[in-house]
Amino acid sequence: MTANSPATLGKTRIAIRAERPGEAGTIADAIRQAYVGVPWSDHREHLMVERLRQTAAFVPALSLVALAGDEIAGHVLLTKAHVRGPEGNAEILALAPLSVVPGHRGRGIGARLVREAHRRAAILGFRAVVLVGILRFYDRLGYQPLNRYPILLPFEASPEICRILPLVPDGLRGLSGTVEYAPGWLDHQADNLIAVIK
Ligand SMILES: CC(C)(COP(=O)(O)OP(=O)(O)OC[C@H]1O[C@@H](n2cnc3c(N)ncnc32)[C@H](O)[C@@H]1OP(=O)(O)O)[C@@H](O)C(=O)NCCC(=O)NCCS
Repeated sequence: MTANSPATLGKTRIAIRAERPGEAGTIADAIRQAYVGVPWSDHREHLMVERLRQTAAFVPALSLVALAGDEIAGHVLLTKAHVRGPEGNAEILALAPLSVVPGHRGRGIGARLVREAHRRAAILGFRAVVLVGILRFYDRLGYQPLNRYPILLPFEASPEICRILPLVPDGLRGLSGTVEYAPGWLDHQADNLIAVIK
């Protein structure tokens, strides 16, 4: 089985592919459902995805959906970001949001979405992914503490949840400076992160 081939998880066949034109509304619904009841969410993640779609940071091939039959069961988005520092600027990716609708959780869909996004991003030539998120979930996918590297985020966030992953060997070598996200990304996340820190 290849990373993007259909697989049977539980009773439903799951396939992962890039989002297609006309799916934005359905994806937004799935994202909204995923964040219902999440305490640190402001429940605007779907709006963030809408904003990012209009920016140069959006890479259509890295907005992936997980399909359970015809239903969108999950979604992950990687958008372009930069590490800006004295040595120069480097393009990386930021992961957010990751969404699996409640009825499909605990079957590996979230992990598969992230792994497939990594695989596609590496093929496209990206070197690293940065994120702020659930420690245990992402560490199992290979993420490392961001504070091992001379890379800062442009907002305050608890170090335990700040993570980075090299997509290729030496993907983190020479990266130094502060992460600059797409403007639409930060508008949303800054509020959220304050909630996480508290
Ligand atoms: C987090 C999320 C994407 C996981 O999707 P999923 O398809 O259930 O994930 P997987 O089946 O691949 O992995 C499930 C594992 O993640 C763990 N996990 C899920 N949410 C977690 C959380 N909030 N804290 C810690 N671990 C969590 C589960 O405990 C499970 O671990 P186990 O295998 O040891 O039991 C999904 O629960 C979700 O959409 N949550 C709401 C939105 C969200 O929090 N997104 C991530 C933002 S950082």
